[in-house]
Amino acid sequence: MLIKKRPSWTMGESDATPEEIYMNRRDWLRGAGFSGLGLAAAISGIGGFATSATAAIGGYPAPRNLAYRLDRDITPEEDATSYTNFYEFGSSKNITKRAQKLITDPWVVTIDGLVETELQLDAEDLIARAGGLEERLYRHRCVEAWAMAVPWSGVPLAKLVNLANPKVEAKYLRMETFFDPSIAPGQKQDWYPWPYVEGLTLDEAANELAFLATGIYGKPMPAQNGAPIRLVTPWKYGFKSVKSISRFTFTDERPVSFWEQLNAREYGFWANVNPDVPHPRWSQKTERLLGSNKNVPTQIFNGYGAEVASLYNGMFPNDGRALFH
Ligand code: MTE
Repeated sequence: MLIKKRPSWTMGESDATPEEIYMNRRDWLRGAGFSGLGLAAAISGIGGFATSATAAIGGYPAPRNLAYRLDRDITPEEDATSYTNFYEFGSSKNITKRAQKLITDPWVVTIDGLVETELQLDAEDLIARAGGLEERLYRHRCVEAWAMAVPWSGVPLAKLVNLANPKVEAKYLRMETFFDPSIAPGQKQDWYPWPYVEGLTLDEAANELAFLATGIYGKPMPAQNGAPIRLVTPWKYGFKSVKSISRFTFTDERPVSFWEQLNAREYGFWANVNPDVPHPRWSQKTERLLGSNKNVPTQIFNGYGAEVASLYNGMFPNDGRALFH
């Protein structure tokens, strides 16, 4: 496929746009779009779908799950919330201001496809049904070779899988970001295959590490980090962690993700982190930590091999590298 404009992660480090935008707390809260009072109205009357009742989700900060520990310092909040990839709002890292156009309350989430019960409900209601929030400290590794370590608040993705009650034929979970070019100028660029799509196998989606995040640093998610609900898969390159999800579809076909459509050779479906499998145009041996700018060695599966390596046992006996593209 022809790519008329280079994605920013095809740039060298020296080309990267410097961080300039630092939000104050008031702007941040307004941008996040959460009332703090729980959702005012449940989404109702949507033909053909079960609808949900109103329920308030737990407050922030959510209780921390101490099973998830870091081997490094937490990235300063202002770095993690101002150096962001969200192509819907532009291809630079400085999209914070533009992303505030995103209206995240209410936010309808559709769960459909090969499931016993299709659902359409508000993101807050979904989280409440999934049992309320917890906080986890995770490393995050972008394919561009920068990394951060942040506290996410959210729920295990496995809870959504359980709620959906997939049919036996379902093998994959496809996740899709909103599509609204009137607020997201990047979506007017028709050489990109909008909306942003990502996918996991059902085994990956049910893995304990796969997380649906609604907050960061003990507060609701800022728009630029993917409010109101985004995926976090810390053993995979960051482009798998799709932001601002509006649809979850259970399917028997492997989803073709946004970046895979643009350039399958460089951004494959599996995208598991591996220092020994370089990106076709740069090494993945080390990563630059946001905040300190220190370079540290990259770890296989981003250090989460104990939790996820068994997902891939025997999968590509003749091509061990296939899992890491
Ligand atoms: N999701 C959407 N919808 N649009 C995007 O452009 N960028 C991805 C991922 N999810 C992206 C997205 C990439 S490349 C990365 S590294 C992470 O989001 C970055 O998450 P962060 O900005 O919160 O650090």
